[in-house]
Amino acid sequence: MAKIQMKSPSCSYFYPWATVMVSCISADGKPNIVTIGASSVCSSNPPTVGIALNPQRYSHGLIEAAGDFGINIPGPQQVEATDFCGTRSGRDMDKFAAAGLTPQAPSVITSPLIAECPVSLECKLVEVVGLGSHDWMIGEIVAAHVDEELLDEDGHFRPSPDRALFCFGGDYRRVGQQIAKWFFTR
Ligand SMILES: Cc1cc2nc3c(=O)[nH]c(=O)nc-3n(C[C@H](O)[C@H](O)[C@H](O)COP(=O)(O)O)c2cc1C
Repeated sequence: MAKIQMKSPSCSYFYPWATVMVSCISADGKPNIVTIGASSVCSSNPPTVGIALNPQRYSHGLIEAAGDFGINIPGPQQVEATDFCGTRSGRDMDKFAAAGLTPQAPSVITSPLIAECPVSLECKLVEVVGLGSHDWMIGEIVAAHVDEELLDEDGHFRPSPDRALFCFGGDYRRVGQQIAKWFFTR
């Protein structure tokens, strides 16, 4: 295998990333949604997640002012709404209404959640790390809401490959074929 050193070190489009819809709210109570392709778990205890948000996004100021946000994990059924919310600004429209999405009341934070998404996480903003074009906005998950179809009989989360949406090389993709279980070489 011959590896070529790229002119640019960026590799952000090479691998699949979970696509999420981040919900937030303005000081005067108007909800908004921004689509995020760059998000990740940061820590499991306390449970924290990060999203890479360009400071020019309308949502950035809302999240900083409110101090919280919702991470809503769409499935393939929400692909159109996901793209819509990533190609329009909440400065110009009510994206919940325009995309046909329903605000779901949060239990802890002020930002609404998205009822149509099978998984919604309530996050309190704990840190904003400026990195250049994007800030890494880190939130602690203070409540999680999961479609009952994704819970087993003991109430444990059993993620379904059919209910997640990934960005991969400029496409939206489903989860692919299972290859092995974690730790299978132990
Ligand atoms: C698939 C997809 C992934 C995106 N990922 C990000 C991202 O990780 N960070 C970001 O700042 N913007 C991202 N965007 C762009 C924002 O979603 C877009 O600029 C949006 O219109 C901003 O909305 P707002 O002005 O209401 O905040 C993405 C857009 C799409 C379609």
